[in-house]
This record gives sequence, C-alpha cells and structure tokens, in this order.
Amino acid sequence: MFYSDDLVEEVRMKNDIVDVISSYVRLQRKGSSYFGLCPFHNEKSPSFSVSPEKQMYYCFGCGAGGNVFTFLMEYEHYSFPEALKFLAERAGVTLPEKEMDEESKRRQTLKSRILELNKEAAKYFYYQLRRESGAIAMNYLKNRALSDETIHRFGLGYSNKYSDDLYRYLKGKGVSDELLVQSGLMNVDEKRGMYDKFWNRVIFPIMDVNGRVIGFGGRVMGDGKPKYLNSPETAVFDKSRSLYGLNFARTARKKNLLVCEGYMDVISMHQAGFTNAVASLGTALTTQHAALLGRYTDEVILTYDSDEAGVRAALRAIPLLREAGVAAKVLSMQPYKDPDEFIKALGAEEFQKRIDSAQNSFLFETDILQRSYDMNDPQSKTAFYEKVAEKLTGFEQELERENYLEAVASRYQVSRDSLRKMVNRMALRGIGTGSLRTASTKPARPEKESGIIKSQKLMLTWLIEYPGLYAQAKEYLVPEDFTGEPYYTVAGLLFAQYEAGEKSPARIINHFEEPEEQSKVAALFHASLAFPGEAEREKAFKETLQRIAGHGLEESRKRLEPTDMAGLQRLLARQKKLREISGQKFQFDDDGNSHRREYS
Ligand code: UTP
Ligand code: MN
Repeated sequence: MFYSDDLVEEVRMKNDIVDVISSYVRLQRKGSSYFGLCPFHNEKSPSFSVSPEKQMYYCFGCGAGGNVFTFLMEYEHYSFPEALKFLAERAGVTLPEKEMDEESKRRQTLKSRILELNKEAAKYFYYQLRRESGAIAMNYLKNRALSDETIHRFGLGYSNKYSDDLYRYLKGKGVSDELLVQSGLMNVDEKRGMYDKFWNRVIFPIMDVNGRVIGFGGRVMGDGKPKYLNSPETAVFDKSRSLYGLNFARTARKKNLLVCEGYMDVISMHQAGFTNAVASLGTALTTQHAALLGRYTDEVILTYDSDEAGVRAALRAIPLLREAGVAAKVLSMQPYKDPDEFIKALGAEEFQKRIDSAQNSFLFETDILQRSYDMNDPQSKTAFYEKVAEKLTGFEQELERENYLEAVASRYQVSRDSLRKMVNRMALRGIGTGSLRTASTKPARPEKESGIIKSQKLMLTWLIEYPGLYAQAKEYLVPEDFTGEPYYTVAGLLFAQYEAGEKSPARIINHFEEPEEQSKVAALFHASLAFPGEAEREKAFKETLQRIAGHGLEESRKRLEPTDMAGLQRLLARQKKLREISGQKFQFDDDGNSHRREYS
C-alpha cells in the first residue's frame, strides 16, 4: 500500500511525540526538552531526550533517535505501515483502504468476529475462575505456586464442569452456530450436537503480539487425559506462527529470548522475573517461529525439557534458528525436568546462573553427536572427528571457524592441527556444507567512517544549528557535494526546506525507512558544537566547507563528460568561488534561540 508524503506528514503532525512517548517512558521537562530513562539501553540516569520543537527523540547514551514513527518501529518492532496505521488510528486520521476482493473481505470479517468472540469467551472463563464454583480451579493454580498477580496478568480462567455452559452463554448473546464452530470454541457431533470444547479445565488464553486472544489451552486439574486441549487452527490461530507469551516478552528489554515448551513454563519464568520467555506450545519450532523470533532478538536460549524429547526438539530448532540469523544456546535444567520445576526447586537466582552458563548450540550438537560414538574405539573415535570436521566446514568465516575448531579440539582432546587438516581436506573435496571462503573473499566489513563523511556530517550539523549560515554556504555548496548516504538525501531535503523558508527535522526523517538511518539523521539534529572561541569556530567552519566543496568538485570532475562545456564552466566558476573563501566572513546566528521558532 502506498501512502502519500502528505498523508504521512499529516499523521506525524497530529501525533505529538511527547504525548506518544510518554505512554512508554516517564518523561520530565528540562528546559526546552523532556528527559527520561532510555528504553533502548540500560541506564541509571536519563540521557534519553524528546524535543517538542523538533518532534524528535535522541538518546545521548546509545545514539538511538528518530521521529515518532521511528520510536514505534524500534519500541514496538512495528513495520513502517504498522506504525503509520497505529498513529493514524490514534489521531483519528482515516487511511485509504486497499481495494479488497470479496474473498479477502469475507476473511477479514470472519477474523474480527472470531477475535471478538474469543475476547468474550476469555472474559467468561476469567469470571468463572473467580466465582465460588471456580474455587477448585483457583486452588489448583495456587497449588502450582501462581500468585494472584500472575493469574491476572496471563488472564487465566476456568471452564466449569458443564459442557454446554459457554455455548448457552454465547447463544444468549446472539452468536450464530456457524461462527461458534469456526471459532473452535465448540465441538459438533451427530450424537450430541454442539457443545463446549473446553470444560472442567483451567484455561490459558493465547494472545498474539498485540495482546488479542487468538486461541485457548485448557489443562485438566489432575492426571486426566489429554493433559492439555488446545484450540484448533482457525482463521486467527495458526500454531506454527504463534508464540505463547510473546506479547509480554517482546517488551522485556533483555538481550535474548527464552524459548520453552509449555504454558506453565512461560508463566513460571515470567513470575520469577524472566519476562523474556515464550513457548511454541508443544509443537516443534517452525521456520515461521524462527522468523518471528528473529524480529525481536538475535539470540535465543532454548529451555526445553531435559528429557530425550526436549533434546530432540533443541536439535531440530537450532538449524532453523541459525537459518533465520538467530544464534541459539541451550540451557541445562538438570536434574529438573523443565523451567517450572527448576524454578520451584532452586529459585530465580539459580536459574539466572543457568542462563549465564547456557551452552553454545554448536557444542551442544557435537556433545549429543558424541554419544553415538565409542570414544574408546579408535575407529569410532575417528569417525566422530570426521563428523565434527564436516560440521566445521559449515562456518564460512575463517576466524569463526578457527574459534570453533579450537573449542572442539580442546573439548574432545584432539590436536588442532590434525583437525584443521581434516577440515581443509574435506572442504577441498566438497564434503560438508561450507565453501570455506578465505579471508580475502569474505564480505567486507562496513567501512569505517571516512574523514570526508565526518566533515559532511559536521557541515549538516552546522547548517541545522545555525540556519543563518545557509544563505552564505549555498554559494559554495550543492547537495551533490554530500557524497555519503544518508547525508546526501538530508542535504537535498534541508536545502529545499531552507529555500522554502521552513525547517522541519521530523519531516526529513520521514524519508528514511531504516531505523538505523533514522537514528543517524536524528543524531545530526542533536549534536552540539563546542568551540573555544568564535575565531576557532569560523576557521573550522571554513575548512570544513572547503574540504566538502573541494571533494565534491573533484567527484563531479571525474563524472564530467569531455564534451560537456557548460558543465565545465560551472565547475570552474565554483572552483574560483571556493578560492575566495578565505577572505569571507561567516555569520553564526547564535543570538539566543531565534531559529528554534522555525521548527514545525
Ligand atoms: P508438558 O507435558 O511438558 O506440559 O507439555 P507442561 O507445560 O510441563 O505442563 P504442566 O507443568 O504439566 O502443567 C508441554 C506443552 O505441550 C503442549 C502444551 O502446550 C504444553 O504446555 N501439550 C502437552 C499439549 O498441547 N497437549 C498435551 O496433552 C500435552
Ligand atoms: Mn511442567
């Protein structure tokens, strides 16, 4: 869906950044800005600033920054359209709807009806748990050491022992049988007709990242079978894409996510303070789960049960996560079965220790692999090393491969050199998954910021801080002189704004899609330039101006067609102008904050 610049700008202007951020971060006014604790890194004293004039935020600690869209994209992990939609709704701006075909319209309606119905059912279960007849379920939960707060937070409920209770309740609200079946809340069979799927169970509502109830799990309060019943797949519930607890975990602000097997594990971990725990609910982790996790973190700690099934689940999950760019570690719960039991027995502090000492997934894999070899038998032992060597060829980067090789060699007592030879031989013969790129062919690291880019950044900061400089600077500079992105684009936009007699930093940020670029741009608007005196400042400014214009001229000379006489004329004229710069006097308009008024 394409939204026009004007619409994007309208939505931005109607959402004051201080209002929006205030609902996430406690802000305090200090001069012309607001300050608070940065939600993007851990800190004790506030370096996160929000400027009502610039309509931007910037953290002096970690460099996060941007406009109101950037904030939601970073904090809520929204995509740009999601952030736009959220803010449009918040400000009552109607976004144009994409023309939907009949089928998707129907599906959309069905989805919102089921969500509505699920909400109704969740409220009903919640209420049942708190009635006198729900005491049996409440006791069950209390016996499992859940606090009132936890029970409330996860919206736990109870489906009472009558199997047509919810049915009658929802019928009373005029819900059609058809919708009830489609919601998965009811079963139908010939003998009994329609009846509740869940009865006499403790209910765990399953929520999506936005906290909407998409399905339910119900546990027997004892040893009955099946232990858990779950909603079937519906228009809103797709097990292979849902992670229980993610609605809370996504804002936990920890450096990784804990992935476990079940409802109770998630809840116990959250209650013990590990609010970054999620579960794939009994199903094996899927590619879609891995991708979803990758949206929120680059490291996952697998906290699967310590039985064989848990080990198998981890072995299956590791490559999927790796594929999605998520590193995995494996936590050992021994001698306990799962996080719930571990925490109950040893407490949160011990659990944290296990998190800190979680095992690297590669070594976890090789450890498991080793179990099927007899290390006392030379033949079998060699076969094991061969397998490990083959796995090592999977690391494309030399340094990473070498580090793993070293770890493996010392772990399984084999000489590093022999193992390395084995790896190289295999790579040459094309065994294994990796191509063994050498250091020279591996992708270049992002280039360090060059001197000229630094100058360009500095110049933009100057022009932003002192709009009065622009009239003079434009005699020497063109936006094309700013050769690095995002500075080239910023220069173009800033020059255009100044020509039109305005200045709107937040509007400039709208042009950048990547939060990383947005932060870079925001940084330009928050730099403060300190010089010992006015003379030094002017000298630095002139030098910067000369360097950028000189570099820009050099670049355009390289691009100049030999036949482009007009182009050559312009070039020579600029060159001449630049030579006169030393005799110029530059006017810094730092008479109070006059330019601030120009912010819109
Ligand atoms: P577990 O059997 O490990 O249960 O199944 P648990 O989470 O430890 O639960 P408690 O502590 O015994 O109450 C892990 C997950 O597998 C799914 C559920 O999502 C469960 O949380 N499961 C398990 C089912 O869907 N159905 C079942 O019958 C059993
Ligand atoms: Mn359990």
